[in-house]
Amino acid sequence: MKLIEVKTYEELSEIAANIIAAQVILKPDCVLGLATGSTPVGTYKKLAEKNKAGIIDFSAVKTVNLDEYEGLEGTHDQSYRYFMNKNLFDNINIDKKNTYVPNGCAADLEKEGKEYDELIKSLGGIDIQLLGIGVDGHIGFNEPDDFFTAATHPVVLDPSTIEANARFFASADDVPRKAITMGMMSIMQAKKILMVANGKNKFDILKASIEGPVDPKVPASILQLHPDVTVIYSEV
Ligand code: GLP
Repeated sequence: MKLIEVKTYEELSEIAANIIAAQVILKPDCVLGLATGSTPVGTYKKLAEKNKAGIIDFSAVKTVNLDEYEGLEGTHDQSYRYFMNKNLFDNINIDKKNTYVPNGCAADLEKEGKEYDELIKSLGGIDIQLLGIGVDGHIGFNEPDDFFTAATHPVVLDPSTIEANARFFASADDVPRKAITMGMMSIMQAKKILMVANGKNKFDILKASIEGPVDPKVPASILQLHPDVTVIYSEV
């Protein structure tokens, strides 16, 4: 694992955007694995700026997102589809038909998960997967558990995740209790992984993920087994 510690969120965003931009320049029809949460917002803003400046072209890029809340339509302002449109896809020259987010409104989420993994396979796998990290160590919505789950699957969110994400909703009661998330197989099969973490509250879990034992109780610790992971951390 390569750890890059920087002083500011601005620097974190610039470095992360440069790494993703390099991938798009090297392989214009690459598959980007994308993440939601507040941490990647700055990275997306910088990618949009680079696109406007003519430095990168998204016209042939495909994207697959990590996760989605159960029961939220893409038009709901807290759905991850809405988040991606607003923070990235609406601001770059990507064809929205090439952007994929798991469907949290599918009647059968197990089936949706299987189809999502098939889709990723049919795209040729993920070239670079961007990840944030939850305060409980989750990646995507892979919550602490007794085992790592390979496939894209429905999950019941941890109380700590509901509390952490309540800031985006009117109240904690409005946060969906369930979600669908890419499992560890598609994440670990990505050719490169880029994790961004920002803030003092992420330090301990990041340290446990990087230096502690590989343990499904700390989901991000599985990344120690991946050959090409870059983590960018800024305290503020
Ligand atoms: C959500 C997402 C995760 C994300 C996490 C951290 O729970 N499902 O993919 O990494 O939030 O978010 P933030 O960057 O806002 O701390």
